[in-house]
Amino acid sequence: MKKILIPIDGSEASKKAAEKAVSVGKLIDAELTFITVANLPTEDKYSYFGMTVENAFIANRKNMLKQLIVEEGRMLDILVRNIDTENLRINKKVIVGVPAEEIVKLAAEEKFDFIVIGRRGFSKVERFFVGSVTQKVISASPCPVMVVNV
Ligand SMILES: Nc1ncnc2c1ncn2[C@@H]1O[C@H](COP(=O)(O)OP(=O)(O)OP(=O)(O)O)[C@@H](O)[C@H]1O
Ligand SMILES: [Mg+2]
Repeated sequence: MKKILIPIDGSEASKKAAEKAVSVGKLIDAELTFITVANLPTEDKYSYFGMTVENAFIANRKNMLKQLIVEEGRMLDILVRNIDTENLRINKKVIVGVPAEEIVKLAAEEKFDFIVIGRRGFSKVERFFVGSVTQKVISASPCPVMVVNV
């Protein structure tokens, strides 16, 4: 059975990618895995020359991350609930880390056949041809990547 990986950041573009992935999935009876990578600035950012600057952010980071994981899980549930996936096999994952790295790592480790990703995400600025996450995924992916334009 073919496996499709669908990275979701909650943006309209990622929703379009999800819808496209589902319609392709129906054609080939694929198993779909929706993944969101939750990310917060690292504590390293607040450590200067070996001295850690104690601040409220560091103290709360763990709690914020925990909350973020719950919220992102909810976001994925709502997204998937709003698409008619018929009887396709669906998985949902929330992973903590650097988005492009985690997406590529999972694609390799779990041998996905292809990735369906949005051309853009939340960024309002049209600086680049594609968003930075998509750009890195295209460059480093072990499998073909389908980029969905909105
Ligand atoms: N944290 C994430 N977890 C899962 N998928 C993501 C994540 N961030 C982005 N994506 C995927 O990558 C697509 C493009 O988003 P990307 O972040 O590359 O563009 P952007 O937000 O417009 O620009 P940038 O983030 O570079 O400022 C999204 O539609 C989504 O499919
Ligand atoms: Mg983005």
